[in-house]
Amino acid sequence: MSQINLSSVWVQLHQHQRATRHLHMRDLFATEPDRFQRFSLRLDGLLLDYSKNRITERTRDLLIELAHTAELSTWIKRLQAGEPINISEKRAVMHHALRAPADSEIYVDGENIVPSIQAVLQRVGEFVEQVHQQHWRGHSGKPIRHVVNIGIGGSDLGPMLVTRALKPYSVGKVELHFVSNLDGRHLADTLEALDAAETLFIVASKSFSTPETLLNAQAAREWFLAQGGSVEAIQQHFVAVSSNIPAATAFGISPENCFPFWDWVGGRYSVWSAIGLPVMLSIGMTHFRQFLAGAHAMDCHFFSAPFAENAPVLLGLLGIWYNTFYRAHTHAVMPYDQGLSRLPAYLQQLDMESNGKRVGRCGARLDFNTGPIIWGEVGVNSQHAFFQLLHQGTRLVPCDFIIPACEHGKLKTHHTAMLANFLAQTEALMRGKNEAEVLAEFGAKLPDNIDILLPQKVFPGNQPSNTLILDSLNPYNLGMLLALYEHKVFVQGVIWGINSFDQWGVEYGKQLARKIEPELRAGQLPSLQHDASTNGLIRHIHQLRQQRNALP
Ligand code: F6P
Repeated sequence: MSQINLSSVWVQLHQHQRATRHLHMRDLFATEPDRFQRFSLRLDGLLLDYSKNRITERTRDLLIELAHTAELSTWIKRLQAGEPINISEKRAVMHHALRAPADSEIYVDGENIVPSIQAVLQRVGEFVEQVHQQHWRGHSGKPIRHVVNIGIGGSDLGPMLVTRALKPYSVGKVELHFVSNLDGRHLADTLEALDAAETLFIVASKSFSTPETLLNAQAAREWFLAQGGSVEAIQQHFVAVSSNIPAATAFGISPENCFPFWDWVGGRYSVWSAIGLPVMLSIGMTHFRQFLAGAHAMDCHFFSAPFAENAPVLLGLLGIWYNTFYRAHTHAVMPYDQGLSRLPAYLQQLDMESNGKRVGRCGARLDFNTGPIIWGEVGVNSQHAFFQLLHQGTRLVPCDFIIPACEHGKLKTHHTAMLANFLAQTEALMRGKNEAEVLAEFGAKLPDNIDILLPQKVFPGNQPSNTLILDSLNPYNLGMLLALYEHKVFVQGVIWGINSFDQWGVEYGKQLARKIEPELRAGQLPSLQHDASTNGLIRHIHQLRQQRNALP
């Protein structure tokens, strides 16, 4: 297929946007009382309301036609069938198989991969059980009380998000800590309060070659030895999760303590694999299986529902509507739940590492914008930080608002107040407030500076949002939510014609860092071959560090 922007439906969507851009959602709601019914979906414990978008039935029809033009159904089948759709790395994309029921049959290169997935899950489950039952103990006989996950990107964000989100489901056996940053303070601050004899380290790295992770793992090992641990005892205190078991064993972790996963699981899609070990240690296997089941339910929905009732397809298409046809550059995500505070960061990697691409699958330069900038922050806090710009700024910022209807904590009053804020924001962003309404609020006595004040108090509204309400934030619903976003990203990648499953763009910086690091460490600066700015900065830093005896 030629590039999607050459299709007639692409042109029609541009024309349709020009014809409808002056419509105000407030008027659409006034004339369409059943808008909520027509533009919302209920899936198990998740409700998606997309009625507060600048769309009509015709918009939805055209967007669905766009999906058909991009042969989305065929791509969904190719994903399901384990074809090597990650074309640049010649790999299948099978994270959905990780959450398939144990009796499923899913083939990659002629091999049913489900038995090996289940075998690893079983092994990891047995390990979790040993730690929980205190059969797995530290070298001095103390039970494991603290688990430190050392990983970065997909080997950190997913497990951390899910562990925090599902804290109310913790079985209370171990406390989880996450270390990712190359800033040594991250590890040092984490270890400060820990007793090495009751601490387990998980070295989580798909490639087992990520320098940040290896440096932190090395430093953790040195700390463990300095705290009275022995080289032999490392086996009781370090386990690895990786698809590169030889590298993990070369690091000194015995093969029995290495939990594998496969090259057909992308790092940012790996929380469902053994990379989810911190989650399993926190919430136990029963809850983790519910998490997998929720994601599987979303897979089944995505693979089978007609596009007009398919939540990931609709979210993907709405994103494209704004990103491409309204030229909105960003997409904000506002989780109204403290447990979901890392969701924006998780979605940044999921979406921007997947769809931040400028060439098509086969390398042709694309003539349109692809992945949006994903950003966001936990709601209500964000209301007091950046919502001003959403309400009265000049930019169109499509948003996702996410909240559980029922809370876990005992502070029910808090949650009701938060729900009210949540609903108020999407209503305000949609409706806005016009001059007549502002004047009516002043009543009979207008202030003497009304000319200045009136325009400041008007809200244009028409700011689009999707609302996602979870019945409650439980493992099943969280699994559904994360799989929903995974598939949304897939839908957008297919329509833009890009490979969402590689990430060559993060390699270049790593390559340059490898060159700069020895230069910074050298006692005597070698001759520098960078641009004048980088050379100048290296000299400046080197000099400062030399003066303070901070080399290497
Ligand atoms: O940032 C690039 C990246 O390769 C991500 O895709 C990945 O999640 C992260 O680094 C960590 O990689 P690994 O799990 O191999 O250490």
